Amino acid sequence: MKNVHENILECVGNTPLVRLNSVAAGIQANVWAKVEMLNPGASVKDRIALQIIEDAEKSGALKPGGTIVEATSGNTGAGLAMAAAIKGYKCIFVLPDKQSEEKRAALRAYGATVVVTPTNVEPEDPRSYYSVSRRIADETPNSFYANQYHNPSNPEAHRRSTGPELHDQLDGRVDAFIAGLGTGGTITGTGEYLKSKNPDVRIVGVDPVGSIYYDYFETGRLTEAFSYVLEGIGEDFLPSTMDFGCVDEVVRVNDKECFQMTRRLAREEGLFVGGSCGAAVAGALKWIRRNDKAGANFVVLLPDSGSRYLSKIYNDQWMKENGYLAPQAGLGSVGDILDGLTEREVVTVPASMSAAEAIGLMKLHGISQMPVTDGDAVAGVIHEKNLLEAALRSGPGAESVGDLADNGYCTVSRSTEAVVLSDLMRKFRIALVYEGGSMVGVLTRIDLIDHVARAGSNA
Ligand SMILES: Cc1ncc(COP(=O)(O)O)c(C=O)c1O
Repeated sequence: MKNVHENILECVGNTPLVRLNSVAAGIQANVWAKVEMLNPGASVKDRIALQIIEDAEKSGALKPGGTIVEATSGNTGAGLAMAAAIKGYKCIFVLPDKQSEEKRAALRAYGATVVVTPTNVEPEDPRSYYSVSRRIADETPNSFYANQYHNPSNPEAHRRSTGPELHDQLDGRVDAFIAGLGTGGTITGTGEYLKSKNPDVRIVGVDPVGSIYYDYFETGRLTEAFSYVLEGIGEDFLPSTMDFGCVDEVVRVNDKECFQMTRRLAREEGLFVGGSCGAAVAGALKWIRRNDKAGANFVVLLPDSGSRYLSKIYNDQWMKENGYLAPQAGLGSVGDILDGLTEREVVTVPASMSAAEAIGLMKLHGISQMPVTDGDAVAGVIHEKNLLEAALRSGPGAESVGDLADNGYCTVSRSTEAVVLSDLMRKFRIALVYEGGSMVGVLTRIDLIDHVARAGSNA
């Protein structure tokens, strides 16, 4: 007998690698997609669900007949519910309201209870999906909180399955692994395993504009997250399952390019996959174009299936209404914007400088905002508005800029596309350009406006 199993849980993992052809046209390396929708629960999260449940059974945290509670964006829930159906557990899942109705319905199909919470509240808010799931776990007798954001079984699942599978599938010749960053379990577990086999393998994370990971990775700073539409990746806090120790680079993507790439994967590669797959491939291709090498094996992980996104990404009307179908403007990169600026020195001020001196510097250079430094690190940004408020509060000049600086800036690199910068600048007034860990430039909204206007007049 071949390929026969005692139950569906034996079919988790061992997913295929499939070459990306059309979307990777012009690339010399082999670009392989790890197709995780072919897990029985239709996503990569089957792997962690099984590991979490088996570890909890072993430790006694999950007892026979118990209830599994989780704050899940859907896929982890499907994996947990599938395993619970076989192992005789009940499930209660808490989902933020931005998740699609299909995802909720898929969980109910396994017999789970679904609780929906508002998206636009802070994680600490009692209505947030983290708080609600904790409360349900506390109040439900014989319950077990799966806690994928802080459960070490999550990265462990990838250390034990995804990593070894890739190593075997490519006969030990994995040159780069690229994956979206959600809980971080996938990149941490897979990345650590692959690095243990080959320290030269490059591990690349993909993060949506609006999430905190990119800035944290580049500068160690926790920024304010802001909303984006893509589901499944990006966070507004740091989960303990995310360990950047094995990550070499983080690439940023915006909603539009993710959704367009998702649709291309279905139409050109026959891969009917979810939005975070489009994100992973869009991010992977940016990185690969900078690191292409004939014969290299670059693997990108595609977490889930397209069936949960029919009413959004695969719905022409929804795509059109949200402006996602129009071509992404080819405005070049942050490097192009910097190169187009007529001589401009980067003016920074030390945190200890008085507000009065800072006002003088701003007048001298004709600028309205400046990065504030503390030693070699950037401690924030000082803006005319901060200085005005301070002057109205306590008279001009006395306070130090370090006390007045705020966190209202984003971090980019020279290779960040101008369209991604423009998404960031809907929220932030100023972008600091980093290369190799040091600041090499500062861009403001007016610089971007100038660049767009020049691109328009040259078109
Ligand atoms: C659709 C989807 N893609 C990607 C991810 C990210 O994977 P990880 O949580 O392992 O970082 C998730 C996890 O929430 C997801 O649901």
